[in-house]
Amino acid sequence: MPAFDLVIRNARAVTASDIFDCDIAVKDGRIVQLGQDLPGGTREIDAAGRHVTPGGVDAHCHLDQPEPPPVRMADDFDTGTRSAACGGTTTVIPFALQHKGQSLRDAVADYHQRAEGKAHVDYTFHLIVSDPTPKVLEEELPALIREGYTSFKIYMTYDSLKLDDGQILDVLSVAREHGAMAMIHAENADCIEWLTRRLEAAGRTAPRYHAHARPMLVEREATHRAIALSELVDVPILIVHVSGKEAVEQIRWARAHGLNVFAETCPQYLFLSAEDLGIDDSYHGAKCVCSPPPRDKSNQRVIWQGLADGLFTVFSSDHAPYRFDGDDGKKAGGEEQPFRHIPNGIPGIETRMALLWSEGVMAGRITPQKFVELTSTNPAKAYGLHPRKGSLAVGADADLVIWDEREFVLRNSQLHHNVDYTPYEGMHLTAWPGMTLARGEVVWDGSRFTGRAGAGRFLHCGHPTLLPRVAAPRPAR
Ligand code: URP
Ligand code: ZN
Ligand code: ZN
Repeated sequence: MPAFDLVIRNARAVTASDIFDCDIAVKDGRIVQLGQDLPGGTREIDAAGRHVTPGGVDAHCHLDQPEPPPVRMADDFDTGTRSAACGGTTTVIPFALQHKGQSLRDAVADYHQRAEGKAHVDYTFHLIVSDPTPKVLEEELPALIREGYTSFKIYMTYDSLKLDDGQILDVLSVAREHGAMAMIHAENADCIEWLTRRLEAAGRTAPRYHAHARPMLVEREATHRAIALSELVDVPILIVHVSGKEAVEQIRWARAHGLNVFAETCPQYLFLSAEDLGIDDSYHGAKCVCSPPPRDKSNQRVIWQGLADGLFTVFSSDHAPYRFDGDDGKKAGGEEQPFRHIPNGIPGIETRMALLWSEGVMAGRITPQKFVELTSTNPAKAYGLHPRKGSLAVGADADLVIWDEREFVLRNSQLHHNVDYTPYEGMHLTAWPGMTLARGEVVWDGSRFTGRAGAGRFLHCGHPTLLPRVAAPRPAR
């Protein structure tokens, strides 16, 4: 009887700190030994000296999130996690969204139903808090944090979701007291509305004007304010989808002043620019409408620099899947929409890892270790999943990617999401996962998806471990 269920031979293993050659032994879905010339397994895979990294943890993606009709997200937990697996991601963290007036518990229950029996890889939820009533703040949120929902997103923009500064302070206080991670979407809603109305009055409603309505300064101002609010409450925050220089400068300032401000960026801020929203009034630009919008090449360089030098903690996809054609996506109701009504978001759950390995590691901009830190280890730590997820170590889940380094041209037809385009169509890439394993099972063999709906399990999260846990203050007597 072989000692192990699986042995991966001749791996060039990469962790967030090291690269070393070893065999990797797996039993009952976990890594049980790393070493040279390990005894045999029931199954053997020869990595042939290729890089082996921990599976990706995509800590910011949207799957089957309820939308006002006729808009619908194109990916649910089935197609979304299938696409994730084929792109080397083995844990996803989408959002259980609370509508205003809705109990947070109901939002979580609804989201569990949407995921039940469908996921191909492990998953957990961030909460989106849009209605911080006394009941939410005093009862529901603390109880949910205790039950393993230890992160939530708050919005400074979008009418249906945004919180005012007082509400943000209330929610951040709960994060501080109960040890949760608060993610903040930082854009100034009033400036965006004012600019949008002026653009509309001038007849400028094509997709490209989305970027004019959300210039860098609206992100800079809100980032500055989010930092100040977190300083007032004395709680770490994580600013999501940072798009360029002026927001980066605010975060560098905060760090230089000893504040615990973490930051996330996404592929769209490395590989897309405002020109992708259109240089004329063509509706094709709707494919790249997301918020914050992509900026320009000089901002892309600033984002690369921040990935390399530690400014960014996490690299996520912000996969927000809407079809281009049809009546439930970018052309809601089948009609081309003024930019105000174009669903915000672009697909990217499958391409996140390969884009960063190709243009980051292969192009020499970041080390393989930095890649692992950004795509897997840090997101697992930020959201209380480490060391079970995000590590290539004894005791961790055997979530692994064996990398194929080869040149090819990316086409949407190769992808497994349910979206009818990729913003990265025609890009030349130099790497793609040659194999993805989720808890020791092959879910992508380099040419075929081999997973099973329902194999992905819900994960209860612990407290974030990016920092030592600071004890909550004693209540005043
Ligand atoms: O445009 C975006 N980013 N859509 C997804 C929702 C969000 O704010 O992350
Ligand atoms: Zn956002
Ligand atoms: Zn998002």
